Amino acid sequence: RRQRTFAMVKPDAVSKVGEIVTFIQDSGFEITQMKMVKLDQEQAKIFYEEHLGRSFYRDLVEYIASGPVVAMELVGNDSIANWRKLLGPTDSEVARLEVPDSLRAKFGTNNQKNAAHGSDSTFSALRELEFFFPSEDNKKQQNIR
Ligand code: CMP
Repeated sequence: RRQRTFAMVKPDAVSKVGEIVTFIQDSGFEITQMKMVKLDQEQAKIFYEEHLGRSFYRDLVEYIASGPVVAMELVGNDSIANWRKLLGPTDSEVARLEVPDSLRAKFGTNNQKNAAHGSDSTFSALRELEFFFPSEDNKKQQNIR
């Protein structure tokens, strides 16, 4: 079924965003919203709050706030599961061994600098889309059209 999900190109891969957009579109997703933003540490902490307490949390927050990210709304059939599948394993080095066609295999570096993020549930997708594309903004955009 047709569904929305949230995708984010992380700082390590923003320089390859052209190729990544093509890869996403060629894989059957429609990009319905997209913007480049630089998060500060507070925003990065909130975005990744589900990982609070994990050993990698502090480094992750610092990394995500280290440069701009590209946030996207993707639409497609079962897009939440299918986007996660296209991403491949979290660790790009593992991805290159196990799923060489995946986005993280092609564009990522390692377990942290893994090129892109994808929502893992309908709940996360709604939260993460709202984080980057607040409904109030959407209403304003609709008024302009
Ligand atoms: P993402 O899918 O965005 O979800 C949480 C992120 O934390 C993950 O991608 C990686 O960037 C990072 N991450 C997850 N596990 C580790 C780990 N073991 N070491 C370092 N970073 C990690």
